[in-house]
Amino acid sequence: MPLVTSTEMFKKAYEGGYAVGAFNVNNMEIIQGITEAAAAEKAPLILQVSAGARRYAKHTYLMKLVEAAVEDTGLPICLHLDHGDSFEICKSCIDGGFTSVMIDGSKYSFEENIALTKEVVDYAHSKGVVVEGELGRLAGVEDDVNVSAADSSYTDPAQVEEFVTRTGVDSLAIAIGTSHGAYKFKPGTKPQLRFDILEEIGRRLPGFPIVLHGASSVMQDYVAIVNQYGGQMPGAIGVPEEMLRRAAELAVCKINIDSDLRLAMTASVRRHLVEHPEHFDPRQYLTPARDAIREVVAHKMRNVLGCAGKA
Ligand code: G3H
Ligand code: 13P
Ligand code: ZN
Repeated sequence: MPLVTSTEMFKKAYEGGYAVGAFNVNNMEIIQGITEAAAAEKAPLILQVSAGARRYAKHTYLMKLVEAAVEDTGLPICLHLDHGDSFEICKSCIDGGFTSVMIDGSKYSFEENIALTKEVVDYAHSKGVVVEGELGRLAGVEDDVNVSAADSSYTDPAQVEEFVTRTGVDSLAIAIGTSHGAYKFKPGTKPQLRFDILEEIGRRLPGFPIVLHGASSVMQDYVAIVNQYGGQMPGAIGVPEEMLRRAAELAVCKINIDSDLRLAMTASVRRHLVEHPEHFDPRQYLTPARDAIREVVAHKMRNVLGCAGKA
């Protein structure tokens, strides 16, 4: 089974009222934890690689690890570039075997975003690769994505038909109040997403797959473990899981999760090293860390995304 695009996955997800999980990968243990969960849950799967992940692990290593996961599990997997910020990085991933790329032109003007996105779409489609574009800007901080709350903005539903028609994108990431990282809402405030915007976009683009970034729920059990075993993540808050379920029932077909994996892995490593100060073989702490990734992903697929059993 070779790597696949997300076209069929999104069609089934849209019709079935669920979302496919798109999980960020940086190393072997993360890839194994995610793909073992997807195999056990019989779930469709998107693995995504950021520019930072490519710098950290190198394109070739991630490519070969994902190919190994396809061979090992027999799963149809879509390999996606997360937050490509230039034509060049998208081309490099397309030429290097990815089946899907995101071109994130959300920091540009509407016209510049359209021009850049269309350039990527034309190249990608000529190679059988699909493209995700973005309209609106999420707040939050990751390696290569750093947007202050003041610079963030919701997607304007009045722009989506023109953007999709003129660019030819296969899916569209929108901003409705989620943000990247582990600190999404102010402690003590009620997390809110603009479902009215999502519903309006769904009406304007019937049948078209929408993508939700910044969708970690920042699972509080893991935050508590991090804080208990020497970490400092007070006030880490994510998107409530019932909101993600609601989005998945609407037009959202792809839900991006990275911070929850980082959190589970870090909580596991912190606890392990405190409980076993004599351990120094990385396999001793990376085995439970990989198990933690598998558990989080299985939970998301079964209880949040609704994609378990849909592969
Ligand atoms: O949205 C960004 C992803 O969580 C990737 O983060 O750029 O730190 O690898 P990164
Ligand atoms: P989180 O930081 O909420 O996991 O978002 C990840 C993401 O959107 C990757 O593109
Ligand atoms: Zn993102």
